[in-house]
Amino acid sequence: MNLSVVILAAGKGKRMKSLLPKVLHEALGRPMLQYTIDAVKPLKPQKTVVVIGNGAEAVKKRMNGEDHLSFVVQEKLLGTGDAVSTAKKELKKGTVLVLNGDCPLITTKTLKGLLTNHRRNKNVLSFLTFIDDSMPGYGRVLRDEKGRVTGIVEDKHATPEEKIKFKELNGGVYVMETDVLKHLDRIKMNSSSGEYYLTDIVGIVSRAGKRLEAYVCPAEEISGVNNREELYKISDIIKRRIIVKWMENGVTFIDPDTAFVHPSVTIGRDTVIYPNTYLEDKTRIGKNCVIYPGARISESVLGDGVTVKDNSLIEKSRVGNGSTIGPFAHLRPNSVIGRDVKIGNFVEVKKSNIGNGTKASHLTYLGDAVVGKDVNIGAGTITCNYDGKNKFTTVIENGVFIGSDSQLVAPVKIGKGAYVAAGATVTKDVPAGSLAISRSKQQNLVGWVKQKQLKAKGEKSSK
Ligand code: UD1
Ligand code: MG
Repeated sequence: MNLSVVILAAGKGKRMKSLLPKVLHEALGRPMLQYTIDAVKPLKPQKTVVVIGNGAEAVKKRMNGEDHLSFVVQEKLLGTGDAVSTAKKELKKGTVLVLNGDCPLITTKTLKGLLTNHRRNKNVLSFLTFIDDSMPGYGRVLRDEKGRVTGIVEDKHATPEEKIKFKELNGGVYVMETDVLKHLDRIKMNSSSGEYYLTDIVGIVSRAGKRLEAYVCPAEEISGVNNREELYKISDIIKRRIIVKWMENGVTFIDPDTAFVHPSVTIGRDTVIYPNTYLEDKTRIGKNCVIYPGARISESVLGDGVTVKDNSLIEKSRVGNGSTIGPFAHLRPNSVIGRDVKIGNFVEVKKSNIGNGTKASHLTYLGDAVVGKDVNIGAGTITCNYDGKNKFTTVIENGVFIGSDSQLVAPVKIGKGAYVAAGATVTKDVPAGSLAISRSKQQNLVGWVKQKQLKAKGEKSSK
């Protein structure tokens, strides 16, 4: 069977009040258009055509990983009927599935049901509907006394009688045989909106006496997004679907209301996710991890048994099994943290490799550093990696001890097992097994306080 798909994504999305094209607005970090594309993919269509117009270049650019898509540009946004006409030339003879690009909750299962029913009943046109009178702005399905579908009227054009009588709403998802497409030319411009409504095709097919059917599905699936409140509502539904899926896979959420897990994230068994946490963009979390409140983890991979303490940010980094990050830590992109490492309070790591068993527990900056195993980095240590123009590497070999408040001025290397005494400014390489000390010698002025007090007393009595 020859199936083509047309996704309508050219509209202005006026009600979003945004410069961003509506279909690129995101739910859980993914543009809503992407959800529709993903729902359609398993149907293995021969062709998927996306009709773009408003912000066409931006939409194309955002979908650049989806090589199977063909794009057609609707020059003037003259309505959904005109949008399908624009795509017509791209379609081969067969069955066409048309979807509005603003209904991200649609599932493959429902689309399969619609297609199967369409074929079984030899319809020329089928479309999804739902029964819910509480949602304004949808088209209403008109039926005759015998219950046969006779057309669709948009909510804004419906008479008060029609609003009372017809409570079945149009979901904006249609299956039609290509023969039906020729009727698109018969759609008349709506005089009040100046648009050609795709929904008028239903009345035309009905009057022609062809087989057509409304296929009822759950309201949730075809909730369209026309404004930001609706975007929030569908995002919330997607969020809950994702969290329930991970709960079913053995993940604990202390408060699912305030945990945000993107669809591309994976989480291992017995991991515990605390409130107010954000797991984003292809992040992979291992088994038995604990993610405490305020963590945001993006495009990162965490091994098993990792603890991320409160208010930590991890971006494009990897963390090995059994390591602890935070509280208040920041792993910037390209940081690779080994096993059983401790990155503690107020520690920032950038583009650095940190070996197994190493500890940087407090107030440290490690940038462009290669740190070996079992290194102890004292509080307040800073790698000075930037001279205002270029970045340089600091190498700290296995078993090194860096005393507190040291600055390591890169490029510099601290050899295996060496010690750097507290408060050092290290500008030269430190050979393995050595102690680097760089501070002025301490003097103790014995009795200095007493002398000062006596001096002050003498000055007072002489006044
Ligand atoms: C549309 C339906 C309505 C249905 C509802 C379901 C029409 C006339 N109305 O209304 O019956 O209940 O969807 O969500 O079809 N688009 C284009 N080119 C255009 C205009 C729109 O590509 O010239 C695209 C939009 O980007 C959007 C989709 O078509 O993805 C639907 O357009 P929208 O303006 O959201 O239609 P609704 O008012 O929601
Ligand atoms: Mg809409």
